[in-house]
Amino acid sequence: MGFEAADVSTFIDRQAIAARVAELGAQLTKDYQGKALTLVGIMKGSVFFLTDLARAVDLPLTVELLGVSSYQGGTETTGEVRITSDLTKPMADKHIVIVEDIIDTGLTMKFLLENFAARHPASVKVCALLEKPARARVKVPIDYKGFVIEDKFVVGYGLDFDEKYRNLPYIGVMKGT
Ligand code: IMP
Ligand code: MG
Repeated sequence: MGFEAADVSTFIDRQAIAARVAELGAQLTKDYQGKALTLVGIMKGSVFFLTDLARAVDLPLTVELLGVSSYQGGTETTGEVRITSDLTKPMADKHIVIVEDIIDTGLTMKFLLENFAARHPASVKVCALLEKPARARVKVPIDYKGFVIEDKFVVGYGLDFDEKYRNLPYIGVMKGT
């Protein structure tokens, strides 16, 4: 059932994703009792995860989106990050959870944490669906983590290869990589 891509093999199936998202949602619900929570999704990759996660949180919450793009030097990120679409609301005094699809080198999240600190929120935590520790270049705290994965290039459930495969309902690995 669901969309399949012939050149992608399943790595984390939709049931496993749904089960983990439910657990993360329950954890956020517990941790943010009595507080107003703002989930900030980082576009475009995290949008698919964000919408499922938001529906797994049993609290009144608000959703914001922030678009970033990292400059690529060949296949490696240079660590230079640029905001392509900024937040539309002030973040001051808010309890923020930044929602990311994957933390790879950590450079994007390092930039985001510095950027958010300057907006003076009440608190900032990080929620990432995936972490690839083998490629970490800077240490960033991940408060809510979906899955720790080995050094594979993954696609689906929001993650892209050349803007494609985001709509796969599972996380997969490109065959032959
Ligand atoms: P970082 O700055 O190196 O941590 O990179 C984070 C960004 O790189 C993510 O938001 C993704 O857009 C992209 N990325 C890193 N690894 C993968 C992958 O395996 N598949 C798809 N995108 C990835
Ligand atoms: Mg991304």
